[in-house]
Amino acid sequence: MKIMKEQIQLLLEEALTALKGKGLLPTDLEPAIQIDRTKDKAHGDLATNLAMIGAKAAKKNPRQLAAEIIEHLPPSKLVRQVEIAGPGFINFYLNPDWLAEQLENALADPRLAIPLAAPPQTVVVDYSSPNLAKEMHVGHLRSTIIGDAVSRTLEFLGHKVIRHNHVGDWGTQFGMLLAHMEELQGEGSAIRMQLADLESFYREAKGRFDASPVFADRARQLVVELQSGDAHCNRLWREFLDISLSHCQQIYDRLNVALTRADVRGESAYNDDLAQVVEDLTAAGLLTEDQGARCVFLDEFKGKDDEPLPMIVQKKDGGYLYATTDLAAIRYRLSVLKADRLLYFVDHRQSLHFQQLFAVARQAGFAGPDTQLEHMAFGTVMGEDGKPFKTRSGGVAKLADLLDEAEARAYELVKAKNTEMSEEELRHIGRVVGIASVKYADLSKHRTSDYVFSFDQMLSFEGNTAPYLLYAYTRVASIFRRGEIDAEALQGSIRLEEEVEKELAGKLAQFSEVVQRVAERGWPHLLCAYLYDLSGIFSSFYQSCPVLNCEDAAIRASRLKLARLTARTIQQGLALLGIETLERM
Ligand code: ARG
Repeated sequence: MKIMKEQIQLLLEEALTALKGKGLLPTDLEPAIQIDRTKDKAHGDLATNLAMIGAKAAKKNPRQLAAEIIEHLPPSKLVRQVEIAGPGFINFYLNPDWLAEQLENALADPRLAIPLAAPPQTVVVDYSSPNLAKEMHVGHLRSTIIGDAVSRTLEFLGHKVIRHNHVGDWGTQFGMLLAHMEELQGEGSAIRMQLADLESFYREAKGRFDASPVFADRARQLVVELQSGDAHCNRLWREFLDISLSHCQQIYDRLNVALTRADVRGESAYNDDLAQVVEDLTAAGLLTEDQGARCVFLDEFKGKDDEPLPMIVQKKDGGYLYATTDLAAIRYRLSVLKADRLLYFVDHRQSLHFQQLFAVARQAGFAGPDTQLEHMAFGTVMGEDGKPFKTRSGGVAKLADLLDEAEARAYELVKAKNTEMSEEELRHIGRVVGIASVKYADLSKHRTSDYVFSFDQMLSFEGNTAPYLLYAYTRVASIFRRGEIDAEALQGSIRLEEEVEKELAGKLAQFSEVVQRVAERGWPHLLCAYLYDLSGIFSSFYQSCPVLNCEDAAIRASRLKLARLTARTIQQGLALLGIETLERM
């Protein structure tokens, strides 16, 4: 019943503040408040030894301090009685009616009584953002999945979310790709077919570039032509992007990630603003020339031996960089889209880039002091050998191949468990479980740590995994099917009597708080851990409290409501993570 502990802690903190205000306690007294569940219910539900810990510093006897604290507790519906016990314990008796009331409100509300953010913010979420020269690989998994879950959560809380897929669709490698397209078209090959495998297309183009000086010259010439807006070049480039983006879209659709073509705003979109960015930095007095390159030096960025670390915005040859584009993008997001908060779901290896970017944007006045700029960094996906994840042959793992494998393995698992299911249903369940497993394995890990990609672990029915949770959901849902009960029209009211009922209720009441935290911190793993705990508590409840077979009609009705709220909470939680539920599996 964590939420209750937290609420009681708040009450105690208020009492301490009031006592300090009256001069009854030293103002620097900050005792660690510990609240425990009592073993014997004759001593209330929760207890604290706060008065005993604080007594010495307060120069009071513990029972006297306890009495003063109790006297200064603000009124709360949460507790029905407070008393002093033994040498100075403070015992709290909870008011189960209060908790039951919270749950009834949640059940009656399609939003499960989760309040809308006030005021709502406009949040630009930069996620997925692959480079289009190549096919999406395992390195894009985390940005795509975590960014999507956080976007869904923010949206659910009523924020205006603008998704930006800041794809890499510009730069010198496109010269090489266009030159290769040109060659193939010259031979009359079916270009679309060649491009079906972007990975090998890229490799061939690179091979040609390295082997033939004529080809390399043509590639460089095409970059110049592309940048100067040449029509032929542009047509080739668009054709390439179109194919590459449709590969990405297939992945998004399979992953149930909400990105569409309309969310693509790639690097090339900022081309025309880059000169202006450099001019503005000059006007703000931030630019320094260093060996012909134009750089911003800020005092807070120093490399080893304290030498200053520049952010380069224009090369000696006049070319612009990744950072310049990102500055232009910040300006666009803040001044045109009027965003309050910018989130970037990008690999932790780009941390320095984002620190510099945000600092420069603030110094240059592109971002005001209140604008929230956050790099939502994430760790690396590792292989079971402890090195960054690779395929068996040692290559970069294509996302599409990983998803194929996850679905195939999930299909086999489900098939082994269900002998009488139709092939079609098995396929469907296999797809849902396979994709959910890949997503959940990623989302459930702390965002900033590395994690090991393991099909065996993610597809296990035990532990904090997608199969476990999806299965837990089907078990709750099946209660209503088996009892032929209309879950939309439950009667009676929630009554919390058994300990495990109270525990389940306490957990259910915590959902709202968890969802807010995910939105604030960009930490979906909190929601995963919560859903896992909730499912565990539900299964203890279900083991010790009969539901369908309960003889007392009022208790049965109450338990059905608890089951229903559990099912809806799991379903809503998984939906925020971008994971579909199944009615059976
Ligand atoms: N395309 C970049 C990469 O693959 C990620 C872009 C992230 N977004 C940004 N605004 N820099 O590394």
